[in-house]
Amino acid sequence: MTYRLKRQSSGVLAVHNPALGETMHPVRGPWEEATRLYVQGSGLPALLSAPASRTSAPAGEGSAGEVVVFDVGLGAAANALAALACRAELISRHGRARRLRLVSFENDLEPLRFALAHAAQLGYLLGHEPILETLAAQGSWSGAGGASWELRLGDFPRTIRQETRRADVVFFDPFSPRTNPDMWSVSTLEGLYGCRRPGGEMRLVTYSSAFSTRAAMLLAGFFVGAGLSLDGRRRATEAAAYYSSLDEPLDLRWLSRWKRDREPWPCLTPAGQRRRVRLSLLEHPQWAHFAQAVEQGREARGRRRAGGAARTVRPAGRRKPARGAAKPPKSSTRSR
Ligand SMILES: C[S@@+](CC[C@H](N)C(=O)[O-])C[C@H]1O[C@@H](n2cnc3c(N)ncnc32)[C@H](O)[C@@H]1O
Repeated sequence: MTYRLKRQSSGVLAVHNPALGETMHPVRGPWEEATRLYVQGSGLPALLSAPASRTSAPAGEGSAGEVVVFDVGLGAAANALAALACRAELISRHGRARRLRLVSFENDLEPLRFALAHAAQLGYLLGHEPILETLAAQGSWSGAGGASWELRLGDFPRTIRQETRRADVVFFDPFSPRTNPDMWSVSTLEGLYGCRRPGGEMRLVTYSSAFSTRAAMLLAGFFVGAGLSLDGRRRATEAAAYYSSLDEPLDLRWLSRWKRDREPWPCLTPAGQRRRVRLSLLEHPQWAHFAQAVEQGREARGRRRAGGAARTVRPAGRRKPARGAAKPPKSSTRSR
């Protein structure tokens, strides 16, 4: 057996691969990490909540169209099950939610089978075994209440190039860049970026905060920002098709730290391409949007002062970051 259960310092059990030295959800354990980092961190609950104007739609159906989640690295299915649980909770609270289509990508069903065999110890799979057995055996599952699940079995860097579904949300959860470099390359992420809806939003969440990961996402076409922190130290990463969707976009301080990092290059960047990669990164529209947001913030503060609005005096050195002051309108923030 390649996988085993490993107790985390928090006391929670997680699925571990000793040969690879990789633990799935190693910080807070499967359920908390899946729920907080991927489901909450991607904004999925808000997306699944039907707009007030559509409340006449049948319960569980929603007329606002389905939400498509790409679950990259199905593994032991914690992230995908957390998405289903989020929708079920919205329905039980509000009587409705938009339809949810999960599309899971995986090249090895062993972690899922291992997790199913240890469902009682892991806890979060209990009650979902029939769904997972159907998914593994038939490659898809469809629930009566407007949720469905499809499995793409194969090597993700290839399968993503043939994918015809368009994603609203991406849970990007491969093994680490050290173990899975091809999953984190610019080319693979470009394939993923190509699966956004035409003119639509795509929000991606991943646990990695490496300079090389964030650089790869920028170079693939995304705008990139800092995400949640589960351990109070390292921040996850959010990427989106629109700068204005990011809560905390990377700024010029990140760029100067990237220049000084010892491993800044996206996975699989050939040595001969580094100069070109560096130039592309420096020219990324993220920095122009950031400068524009700073400028808009400055102008807004100037207008408030000219209008005699009450000023909040902050202690020196503790000024509110300019980026929070103004976000460019969505229409002007289309990514490359
Ligand atoms: C960190 S685990 C995913 C954990 C999972 N998201 C969960 O909620 O339990 C990473 C997964 O990515 C899968 N993976 C690694 N390389 C892959 C590839 N080239 N194509 C598809 N899946 C891959 C691994 O088999 C593994 O199950």
